[in-house]
Amino acid sequence: MDRYGSLTARTYDVLSGEPVYGVGRRLALAALDLRPGERVLDVGCGTGLNLPWLLRGVGPDGLVVGLDRSPAMLDRVRAKAAPHRLPQLRLVQGDACAPDVLATGAAGGEFVSGGVGFDVVLATYSLSLLADVESAWATILRVLAPGGRVAVVDMARPTGRWGWTWPLARLACGLGGADIEAHPWRLLERDLRVTGSWSRWGGHVQVRVGTR
Ligand SMILES: C[S@@+](CC[C@H](N)C(=O)[O-])C[C@H]1O[C@@H](n2cnc3c(N)ncnc32)[C@H](O)[C@@H]1O
Repeated sequence: MDRYGSLTARTYDVLSGEPVYGVGRRLALAALDLRPGERVLDVGCGTGLNLPWLLRGVGPDGLVVGLDRSPAMLDRVRAKAAPHRLPQLRLVQGDACAPDVLATGAAGGEFVSGGVGFDVVLATYSLSLLADVESAWATILRVLAPGGRVAVVDMARPTGRWGWTWPLARLACGLGGADIEAHPWRLLERDLRVTGSWSRWGGHVQVRVGTR
């Protein structure tokens, strides 16, 4: 079953639990503090919930690349973007775990040519879905420009006074195909200098921001 097919793409923005999960997105985007002209990669961009902030942050001279495996999710982004003139937005359909997803061909080579890479890489609620997160992480580090910033937002088991929400959290992760035990922000903690760390809803939403 393709979890991120056309039905999910059409309903995602309403059913994805933004009242709960939006806080992680907002914390990460604020901490990334995008500047005009920067180049940003959104890994597993989905229907583009981060994109309005990213586009505003980098301005008309920047570049925002949304990478996602699902053509249907990317079609939603295209539909939302259609009324606007957004030459700085590029969408790449591909598997973030494939080592060459941004390295070769028309799909991505142009974004990382000349060793320039991305100033910012963001992954919100996507790394915990990946079959081979280490491969995707290696790509993120490879395309990250010197001094670049990375934000990872993902999910863990809620504990403490929010522990009672665990069955709901497990259901949400199961429906979305996320492995709630994956804890992909550990990769950022392992390989980058952490500049921001937040936990919300009893630890269910985890946010890490780092630089190298
Ligand atoms: C839960 S959604 C998150 C979307 C978005 N980042 C957000 O914050 O709303 C996960 C997204 O990851 C994408 N995805 C899953 N596996 C992927 C892979 N191997 N490569 C690229 N994208 C992938 C899905 O198609 C889906 O759009």
